[in-house]
Amino acid sequence: TFVVTENCIKCKYTDCVEVCPVDCFHEGPNFLAIDPEECIDCTLCEPECPVEAILSEDDLPADQAHFLELNAELSAKWPVITEIKDAPADADEWADKPDKLKLLER
Ligand code: SF4
Ligand code: F3S
Repeated sequence: TFVVTENCIKCKYTDCVEVCPVDCFHEGPNFLAIDPEECIDCTLCEPECPVEAILSEDDLPADQAHFLELNAELSAKWPVITEIKDAPADADEWADKPDKLKLLER
């Protein structure tokens, strides 16, 4: 499965959602999560993210490994998103900022 990682938090550009053929993306207040039970590993979403927040589970660095479980947990409770929408006004300011996990809104 593919996994949305920390860099998505407070960026949420949503470019990723339009290419998913099986509608796996689920939207929370400031982060998206992929449903690992729906993802077919097509790889299409990975290059769409401007901040490279989407990775294959096989490529997750150790400090992002917990995002696999987090995507499963959050996708189960958040609604599906299939259409691109405006990013938060301050999204660019948060791109590539470290330690954003504490800012994740559930
Ligand atoms: Fe959807 Fe393909 Fe990305 Fe999986 S890899 S979330 S199926 S676009
Ligand atoms: Fe997040 Fe990147 Fe998609 S910032 S919403 S994973 S395009």
